Amino acid sequence: MGFLSNVLAAARAVTCVTAEIDIDAQPDGHNATNGPWRGLAWGEVNFLHTTDTHGWLEGHVNEVNYGADWGDYVSFLNVDLLVVDTGDLVNGNGLSDNTVPFGSVSRGLFENVEFDLVTAGNNDLYKRDVSRGMHANFYRVYGDRFVTSNVDIEVSGNNVSLGERYRYFTTKHGLRVMAFGFTLLDFRLDSVATTTYVRGFNDTINQAWFKDALKMEVDLYVLLGHAGLREACTYTGKYANENPLMCIEAHLRQQRPSIPIQVLGGHTHQRDFKCFDSQSSGLESGRYSDTVGWLALRGVIPSNSKWNGTKTLPAGVSSPTKTCMPASTATTPPSYYIDRRYLDFNRRTFAYHAIGERDESVSSRFDTPLGRKVSADIWKAREDMNLTIVLGCASRSYYLWVCPQDMPGNIYTLLKDALKEVVKHETSINPRVILMNNQSVRYDLYQGTFTVGDSLTILPFNDDFLYIPDVQGKVASSALGCLSTGKASMLGGPEDITQARFIDVGEWTQQSFHVRRSFLAEDPNPGHVTSDDFGNCTGKIPDSEDCGDDTVHRALKEQYGNPTYFQYSDPNITNQTDNVDLVFISHFKDMILNCKDIKGVYTDKDVKKYTTDGITSRTFLQEYAKRKWNSTQSGACEIGK
Ligand SMILES: *[C@@H]1O[C@H](CO)[C@@H](O)[C@H](O)[C@H]1NC(C)=O
Ligand SMILES: *[C@@H]1O[C@H](CO)[C@@H](O)[C@H](O)[C@H]1NC(C)=O
Ligand SMILES: *[C@@H]1O[C@H](CO)[C@@H](O)[C@H](O)[C@H]1NC(C)=O
Ligand SMILES: *[C@@H]1O[C@H](CO)[C@@H](O)[C@H](O)[C@H]1NC(C)=O
Ligand SMILES: *[C@@H]1O[C@H](CO)[C@@H](O)[C@H](O)[C@H]1NC(C)=O
Ligand SMILES: *[C@@H]1O[C@H](CO)[C@@H](O)[C@H](O)[C@H]1NC(C)=O
Ligand SMILES: *[C@@H]1O[C@H](CO)[C@@H](O)[C@H](O)[C@H]1NC(C)=O
Ligand SMILES: *[C@@H]1O[C@H](CO)[C@@H](O)[C@H](O)[C@H]1NC(C)=O
Ligand SMILES: *[C@@H]1O[C@H](CO)[C@@H](O)[C@H](O)[C@H]1NC(C)=O
Ligand SMILES: *[C@@H]1O[C@H](CO)[C@@H](O)[C@H](O)[C@H]1NC(C)=O
Ligand SMILES: [Zn+2]
Repeated sequence: MGFLSNVLAAARAVTCVTAEIDIDAQPDGHNATNGPWRGLAWGEVNFLHTTDTHGWLEGHVNEVNYGADWGDYVSFLNVDLLVVDTGDLVNGNGLSDNTVPFGSVSRGLFENVEFDLVTAGNNDLYKRDVSRGMHANFYRVYGDRFVTSNVDIEVSGNNVSLGERYRYFTTKHGLRVMAFGFTLLDFRLDSVATTTYVRGFNDTINQAWFKDALKMEVDLYVLLGHAGLREACTYTGKYANENPLMCIEAHLRQQRPSIPIQVLGGHTHQRDFKCFDSQSSGLESGRYSDTVGWLALRGVIPSNSKWNGTKTLPAGVSSPTKTCMPASTATTPPSYYIDRRYLDFNRRTFAYHAIGERDESVSSRFDTPLGRKVSADIWKAREDMNLTIVLGCASRSYYLWVCPQDMPGNIYTLLKDALKEVVKHETSINPRVILMNNQSVRYDLYQGTFTVGDSLTILPFNDDFLYIPDVQGKVASSALGCLSTGKASMLGGPEDITQARFIDVGEWTQQSFHVRRSFLAEDPNPGHVTSDDFGNCTGKIPDSEDCGDDTVHRALKEQYGNPTYFQYSDPNITNQTDNVDLVFISHFKDMILNCKDIKGVYTDKDVKKYTTDGITSRTFLQEYAKRKWNSTQSGACEIGK
């Protein structure tokens, strides 16, 4: 049997499971091959943090490290913690973006997690209907736990706060927490008028509500933010000149010098931890449901507090021992300790930390009824949206930034071949120059079963292919240079091309490899390798106290940029060829018509639709996969480990 019949058989079996209401995981997902090797450090206050999920509630079905779904996260949260998300729920996955408005199905699935604190990201605010949906529904579900200190939305002719301005609450054991939520200011990105307004820092701190909030008695400030930790309060950016999250951190520190501050940021799609001062630090927790950030605080309880939680941990459980206090300035021993950990988003990791299971396979003991129901709801939503339709089997992975241009592992190499094979005129026999831009391409393509859902994460935009027929070869060939004005960027530089083959070579020294083996008995596979203010997972022994990654990986270095515009050009085109079809996506038609040699010669009337078979910038790769990746496989469709 070919792999497709296997997949289809599995899909049929699953349809029956769905009817029985619950499943433990996405049926097309895979188990993690690598897992954690040490427990978490627990403090008096502990956070679990997600951010920038962008609709990836099914997890990464073709990536072993990040294969849990949102239902597994629901099962994991069967413990006592502060659970936080810092925004960007849409733009990035078919599950969120294949509905009108974006997020209308995925947000309901997301809401199965009982967050203690949530805030909004820039992507949640670009479209009127998306932000309205969030305002109405998040508010209903989360009440004052939905915190947006600097975002207004126009409703019935009035500007109102998108969520609550702040949340003041007392934890189960009596710690008084004040939480604010700040979103970055980059709204000039969107040319379409919205009815959502993000306020700057100075504006916000002058509001009466903020001044009142600052007077309240507090043991810990929690600053949620859809903004990075490394952009200073004032900096010169493209669209804004401040990072309100960092401004507010500095302001609080100045106004309330002795109160601990915990920042939970996002937006940069990285794992990161940064120390601000001995009692103030920040965490960022990845992207696309690939990471759960863990943060533990010890010494946060003031001596006169009525806090009644246990300060004695069970045997075998450690507590935070790291400090942001620079050793050189320490005059007294620190009294405030922190730890952070970046958990891979997979069932094996969740089961390890939730119920202490160490095996690669996860027993049903881990799953909760609600978690199983959410997993089934996600699978059903994916099926209903046709996202699980299998197009073929990808026999290798193709990356955005891991391999240089024109190498087989660079996704643009694949896309150029797909343009060549699929984007054809019904009747014209002219040779073609076909142009696209790199902003159309949003994610890596991983080895394994390739579905409609995968194709939508990679190519979400649905632009028509247009063309100007019978253009001179010289003119058609110069269009790419015109678009990119000769400034195609390479981050790495040409000398780095030689390194392309070595992406799978590990960073570990012989010695560290040996030590790790004794701990883990498994090889590190490619995945996140993080450096932050507490340490560096690169080149260190994996049981190092400093490394924040919960599972050891080899670095898959994202180090090569790609030009803004790329093209496929039929090889028989010369400057003298008379009849070339100059093909491009509708998104940059006006720029093409402004190119030297085109402007004044061709006008809007000369531009016609090129493909008549429904092929668009969204579907050409789907069609390619159907043709090229379908019947060639026998047996199962393997994923990369
Ligand atoms: C809402 O605030 C924005 C930005 O301050 C302002 O431009 C807009 O006019 C306000 N809308 C209303 C209805 O007050
Ligand atoms: C601990 O303190 C909280 C908040 O003050 C209170 O609600 C709770 O009943 C106390 N628990 C115990 C076990 O005393
Ligand atoms: C806020 O206002 C103060 C005083 O007017 C000014 O010094 C500061 O630069 C402003 N901050 C930002 C981020 O614009
Ligand atoms: C993953 O592990 C489960 C047990 O938790 C097992 O039933 C399943 O077959 C495994 N899946 C794959 C793809 O190996
Ligand atoms: C899914 O595909 C079926 C069959 O082609 C079609 O009828 C249906 O409209 C599609 N659903 C969506 C949400 O695109
Ligand atoms: C794969 O190829 C077979 C045979 O050509 C065809 O019946 C099937 O529909 C194709 N599957 C997909 C997903 O295109
Ligand atoms: C040029 O190459 C294309 C693609 O290989 C082919 O379809 C076309 O017939 C060729 N045209 C000429 C004039 O050789
Ligand atoms: C991480 O450690 C490696 C090897 O010890 C070193 O080369 C690198 O500069 C370090 N990176 C950071 C960010 O400290
Ligand atoms: C697209 O091109 C721009 C400009 O060259 C570059 O900054 C950006 O990183 C590229 N995007 C991708 C996905 O390569
Ligand atoms: C083709 O024309 C371009 C632009 O006029 C010119 O720069 C280039 O050298 C020409 N190529 C050849 C092979 O003549
Ligand atoms: Zn994001």
